[in-house]
Amino acid sequence: MQRILVTGGAGYIGSHTCLRLLEAGYEVIAVDNFCNSNPESLERVKKLTGKSLTVYEANICDRQSIKKIFEAHDIDAVIHFAGLKAVGESVEKPLEYYYNNVYGTLVLCDVMADAGVKNMVFSSSATVYGLSDDVPFSEDAPTSATNPYGRTKLFIEEILSDLKVADKEWSITLLRYFNPVGAHKSGLIGEDPKGTPNNLMPYISQVAVGRLKQLQVLGDDYPTIDGTGVRDYIHVMDIAEGHVKALEGPRVKEGPAVYNLGTGKGNSVLEVVKAFEKVNGIVIPYKITDRRAGDVASSYADPSKAQKHLNWTAKLTLNDMVRDAWNWQKKNPNGYA
Ligand code: NAD
Ligand code: WQD
Repeated sequence: MQRILVTGGAGYIGSHTCLRLLEAGYEVIAVDNFCNSNPESLERVKKLTGKSLTVYEANICDRQSIKKIFEAHDIDAVIHFAGLKAVGESVEKPLEYYYNNVYGTLVLCDVMADAGVKNMVFSSSATVYGLSDDVPFSEDAPTSATNPYGRTKLFIEEILSDLKVADKEWSITLLRYFNPVGAHKSGLIGEDPKGTPNNLMPYISQVAVGRLKQLQVLGDDYPTIDGTGVRDYIHVMDIAEGHVKALEGPRVKEGPAVYNLGTGKGNSVLEVVKAFEKVNGIVIPYKITDRRAGDVASSYADPSKAQKHLNWTAKLTLNDMVRDAWNWQKKNPNGYA
């Protein structure tokens, strides 16, 4: 049995991935400092799978704590989710983002190398395609960043590429997620943002449950089907499955292996709102406001590389995403609290 260390394992994508790993027969060791999550998520993963996993409360920047975890377990690979992810906050607190995300990754890689564990799957993001509108994005599209959060992803991608050049024993997979949404179909685990959500789907869900009054649709004058922004929404369980496939995928000799995780299909804000309303039978009040700085008109993936090399493809539809997002929110109106 393979033993996988999952950093940020209690978070939104981490908890769903821990669940899929346990289902697929992996042993899971999760490490999280709970700065943006709740230990309850992993309690529920145990309940759902009927399996146990080891959970450590630790900061990936704390070398001694991470070293001890590697000494205590014979780890085969690391899935590295731990990081801060709020774009706006990263503009206000760049040092916090560089320290946590970039320095944290340096410490983690260093400890991994010392322990002889040279196998990492890293959470990158479609944000590395910057302000380009040249959709669909394939993995060889030019990369850039428009905010400190995005730059941490780009820098980490570069650092991991340098590591692979220096030592071919490393196996490094960069997964660039598009817009992960939805929740496990049980409604027991899901996305639980702290404060007012920055992202569309949790915002809609919180309007639906009455925590927020109405959705602001951020711009309706983009060159898209109905003027609102188009994104590649992908079900979080498809993202989780992508990690299992990445662990089982081919080892690449040169450079890190880079894969988009998206459906390849874009939907506008109003299409998402309409799907949510139709599938769940709820009206979402909204008003059109100005564009948000830094938003592009359209972003969606060319997902063919992951299909070809990892035998992975997104299976769940927009209707599944809005149904599962609402199922989670209505069963947990205040998240894990
Ligand atoms: P999340 O905030 O729910 O999960 C991240 C987890 O990492 C949290 O549990 C947090 O407590 C933990 N963490 C943060 N810093 C840590 C540290 N120094 N030490 C230990 N634990 C730490 O976010 P998520 O949506 O699950 O995202 C997971 C990863 O995927 C992140 O790296 C994020 O940047 C990336 N990503 C997310 C999205 C998205 O839209 N959700 C899109 C692309 C990429
Ligand atoms: C989607 C669409 C908004 C909120 C962000 C990060 C990106 C990645 C995924 C981590 C856009 C519109 C939104 C609202 C709205 N994360 N919108 N009202 O901006 O594509 O990507 O999350 O890597 O880095 O930037 O996702 O969900 O914020 O927005 O109209 O209240 O919904 O304008 O068109 P985005 P999002």
